Amino acid sequence: MKPALVLLLCTVWTFSGAQYYYQGLMDYLENRLLAIEDRMHLWHEQTHRYHTELQDFKKLSAEAVDALGKEHAMLFKDLEGAVVKVDRVEREMDYVETQTSPRACVNKADKVVEQGEWSLKESRGEEEEEEDWEELYSRVSDCVEIIAGIRSVKILKRVGSPKGMWTRDPRSSKVYVFNGTSGDTVFQFNSVRDFSNSSGVTGSRQIKLPDDWRGPGSAVYNDHLYYIKHEADAEVQVVKYDLMSGSVTDIAMFPLDNLATVYSLNPEIIADLAADDEGLWLLYASSDNEPNINLAKMDPATLDIEQIWDTRCPRENAEAAFVVCGTIYVVYNTRLASRSRVQCVFDVNDMVISQEAPLIYFPRRYGAHASLKYNPEERQLYGWDDGYQIIYRLTMKRKLLV
Ligand SMILES: *[C@@H]1O[C@H](CO)[C@@H](O)[C@H](O)[C@H]1NC(C)=O
Ligand SMILES: *[C@@H]1O[C@H](CO)[C@@H](O)[C@H](O)[C@H]1NC(C)=O
Repeated sequence: MKPALVLLLCTVWTFSGAQYYYQGLMDYLENRLLAIEDRMHLWHEQTHRYHTELQDFKKLSAEAVDALGKEHAMLFKDLEGAVVKVDRVEREMDYVETQTSPRACVNKADKVVEQGEWSLKESRGEEEEEEDWEELYSRVSDCVEIIAGIRSVKILKRVGSPKGMWTRDPRSSKVYVFNGTSGDTVFQFNSVRDFSNSSGVTGSRQIKLPDDWRGPGSAVYNDHLYYIKHEADAEVQVVKYDLMSGSVTDIAMFPLDNLATVYSLNPEIIADLAADDEGLWLLYASSDNEPNINLAKMDPATLDIEQIWDTRCPRENAEAAFVVCGTIYVVYNTRLASRSRVQCVFDVNDMVISQEAPLIYFPRRYGAHASLKYNPEERQLYGWDDGYQIIYRLTMKRKLLV
């Protein structure tokens, strides 16, 4: 009986000991689990908070980007408005200037204000950079260009009367000066430099023609001079004169119903010739009732008329015109002698669409242009403005529809 009691006691003791031990373990584990649960809850909360914060940030930045976009658009609109205003102010200033001084005097500062991009170079014959403009050859082989703008202006000198014309033979580089609106003399210089260097027309070769040229409407090409001859009660003639042999090689009658001036601002010009790589062009008005300028293409060898167009460019307020790659550019002005501008463009090949035809303003000069002659090799205009001989260098771009 005694051992059994001891065993029982032992068992009870062991049992209660084990129970105690397990209870402790359970408590410990429960506490740990609770702690882990708490920690997980915390993490969950934190993740949630981060998530909402991230979303808020995203929303904020989207709003900011949106606002920035709107501001940009507004700025852009403001800028456009400002450009329009500047343009208007410039026009108004033009008007005021023409009101106060019909002949604006030229000085460099004035020019810079007027248009930043003009690089005005006054040449007095000394310290002249020759690379720059004189020997600028760029042949127009594929003639698919239109004028994009005026790159620079060079006032070479002042010789002769307010009206006249000068041009350079693209082939021989010789320079020809036609003083006044008619005469039988032409001054020939070997180069632009010689012309610019000389005082007046000294040092030139004087060419005496068999009859008078009329209006500053002549053209020189390939050592040939083409000029308009018009004697009282006779028909208008185009004369081709060989400058090498000094003789007339061809004459073409140009029957016009009654005489009318081509450009209303230069009434002396009853017909205007332009020569380029495409051929010889004649600008004229068929009669005084005809409001537009007509264009005829002539064969430079035979003077035959190949084709005639109505350019739909009005003669009213026109002062000059020139032909580049089969496109005529008519230059207009107002009687107040404001800024000359190309305002009408006509392309015989119908390739220049009106949207790409540029409205080119010439820098303000002395008066109005008496003539503007285009040189296709150099892409330059030879202008005569109140006795000043001016070179406008042009920038070109390709026609769109090519
Ligand atoms: C042209 O000017 C240059 C320098 O400006 C001078 O050396 C030259 O002798 C001048 N030529 C003539 C023909 O006057
Ligand atoms: C240019 O022509 C005007 C008259 O139209 C004349 O007075 C002047 O002397 C001429 N100048 C030259 C250089 O021939």
